[in-house]
Formats: sequence, structure tokens, C-alpha cells
Amino acid sequence: MTAMPTDAPSPLDVEAIRADFPCLHQQVHGKPLVYLDNAASSQTPQAVLDALTHYYTHDRANVHRGVHELSQRASAAYDGARSRIQAFLNAEREEECVYVRGTTEAINLVAQSWGPANVGPGDEIVITQLEHHANIVPWQLLCQRTGATLRHIPIDAAGALRMDVAAEVIGPRCKLVAVAHVSNALGTINPVAEIVRLAHAQGALVLVDGAQATPHLPVDVQALGCDFYAFSGHKVCGPTGIGALWGRHHLLEAMPPWQGGGDMISEVRLDVSTYQPPPLRFEAGTHHIAGVIGLGAALDYLMDLGMDRIAAYEHDLFTYATARLATVERIRPVGTAAHKAGVFSFLVDGAHPTDVGTLLDSQGIAVRTGHHCAQPVMTFYGVSATARASFAFYNTRDEVDRFVEALHKVLSWL
Ligand code: ALA
Repeated sequence: MTAMPTDAPSPLDVEAIRADFPCLHQQVHGKPLVYLDNAASSQTPQAVLDALTHYYTHDRANVHRGVHELSQRASAAYDGARSRIQAFLNAEREEECVYVRGTTEAINLVAQSWGPANVGPGDEIVITQLEHHANIVPWQLLCQRTGATLRHIPIDAAGALRMDVAAEVIGPRCKLVAVAHVSNALGTINPVAEIVRLAHAQGALVLVDGAQATPHLPVDVQALGCDFYAFSGHKVCGPTGIGALWGRHHLLEAMPPWQGGGDMISEVRLDVSTYQPPPLRFEAGTHHIAGVIGLGAALDYLMDLGMDRIAAYEHDLFTYATARLATVERIRPVGTAAHKAGVFSFLVDGAHPTDVGTLLDSQGIAVRTGHHCAQPVMTFYGVSATARASFAFYNTRDEVDRFVEALHKVLSWL
């Protein structure tokens, strides 16, 4: 047996971790649940459920609006989550972290606030062929509004970005490159630092959609060198309806508000208002207070486990799963890039992905089927949908075996 290198992260105790996730311990259609739809939404640990319950049962009040004790406690918990996001992303300042509903809202915020102030006719926005719709449509809307042109970096047959043409696509008129850190449909890990280098050489900014990277990889926005980074709470064991946008402070400072209302203002007169500095400038109205508090607890949970340990465990699990699935006849993997995280998209010869997903569900196996909100990827592969198994750090080799066993059974029915 090979000795583990001394600098390798210590292994996770996955059985103990699984005990933290109540939803994993149930039967579905009379079979033990194997939850492999983590790219759509992760499960929630007890620590997050406890944080939510504590807020609702002890501290339930609005924030930044009351001198009374409950409002003070709620405000402290709400404001405290910002430093957790800062630590999770290794951001320089917590003021760079804006609470939003999720990745989609974060991208729309940048497109609608930074966009019109910085993009005009003849300018270019660059996306990639493997983006989620949330990182395509906001840029289409911005281009329609400003007369800019939307370009994209294509992918190759394996589902990796064509970096050989990226330098040509990211030209001197490019104002911003919007790229997924990890593809939700294929699992490809994109060379973000390299894209940042190309973009910055042209004076363009880079926004990274981190929705599928944050559950799997340690993220360091300073090391990546990007300008904006977005992620969703519900994919990192937090509540739904909450997420974060990180942006460089000088960029956020120069951006106009995108929504008006309470909490984002400094002073309001009947004819004109002045605004708070970031991040409050971008947080109009009463936010998802419980969601923010739950997100803080989720990030604490992940950071306590260690994202490096999570990444190492998942890499091992995913390598095992990919090898096991390669032995199943009639399975065609979609997306086979060299660097992947957490996602196994596949087709079954002679069967529609929806039927495969429904039959797998009858065996207790939860996978997603469909276009995964990434229709340009499906178009590239000439399909309308795939089945997708997506893994998390609480999945086990035993679950991979049960998935493969269930697939064999399903195939015998099709
Ligand atoms: N974006 C989520 C997914 O990939 C919903 O399933």
C-alpha cells in the first residue's frame, strides 16, 4: 500500500458526516435513498437546520431596523454571515460580498448595474458554449439593450473549452468574459485563471459563475484573479433562495444601484436619494434573513470539514464512479474532459433520459434528467436531454455500487 503523502488532506469520516444530514436517511419507493442530484441542490446538515430554527424560534425580527433585543440579535447573526462568505472565497474584504437570492440574481445584478454603465455599441461580451442559461440570458439582454455583441468560446467533443481559440474570441472590444468555474451539465472544470489572464490582457473583466465549483473545490478569488464571483447557498448545503456575489471593491463602489428601496439608501428626499456604499447599496428591502444566517452556518460547516478534504474525497469517489460506470453496457457518457468535478452526464442507447430517470427513481436513485438549463450544450451534442448523476462529499462508494446495480436492472427493463 502506498503511504499517504504528509501534505495530503486527512480523509473525511463520511459515515459520521452522513449522520448530519437527516434527509439522506429515508426510503424512496421502498428502497434506501441514493441522492445523486447534488448539482441541482445539495442536502442540508443539522447545523444549518438548527441555525434556521434558532432564528425563527428565538431571534425572529427584521434587521438594521430596530433597537430592540431581537432585532439586535438578528442583525448580528445576519451581518456575521458576511465574514463567512469572505473566508469561504478568501476575499480581501467582507464589504465585497453582497447577499443575493442566488447565482442567477448575482449575474443579473452585474449585467444590469455594471453592464449599461460600461458596455456600449460595438463592445463585446464573451461567454462559453457550456454556460448555464443564467450565464447566457442576462448577457443577451445586456447586448440587446446596449448594442454590444455576444461572442462565445466553443467546446470540443470532450466538453472542454477550446482554449486554442479563446485568445481570438477575447479580443480588444471585449468588456467582460462570463464563464462557469465548473459546468453544471458536464462537470468540466474550466481554466479560469488562464481565461482571466487573456481577458485582463485585453482590459476586460471576468465574472465567474461558481455555482457548481463552490460545492466541490476550494475557491480563492484572489488567486483566481477574477473580478466577480457568484454562487448559490442551496448548492453548498445552505437554504434555497440565498447566495452571494463577490466583486472587487473598487468595481462595486463605482456601480449604480440596481434595485431601490429600504436599507440601500443613505438619505431619501422626495426628488433625489443618496445611496449606501457596497454591499448595502445592492441589498434593497428586507432580505432572506433566515437564508443568510443559514448560509453562514453552511459555510462554517464546509470550512470546518475543509474544502481541500472534500475535494480530495470527491476526486477519489468520482474516479471510482467513472470507472464503475464505464463497465455498464449501453451507457454513453456525455462530457469526458480531463478535469471534471462531481457530474456524470450520460445517455442510454435506445432509451429516453426521462424514462431512465423515472426507472432509477423507482429504485431509490435520484438523478436529474433534462437539458439542465444548458440547452447550447445539448445542441452541441445533438441531444435534447441527458441523465445526470451528480455527487457530493456525503455520497459513498457503496451508493455508487447501488447506482450501478440499479442501472443494470433498469437496462434489463428497457
Ligand atoms: N442549475 C441546477 C442544475 O444544474 C438547477 O441542476
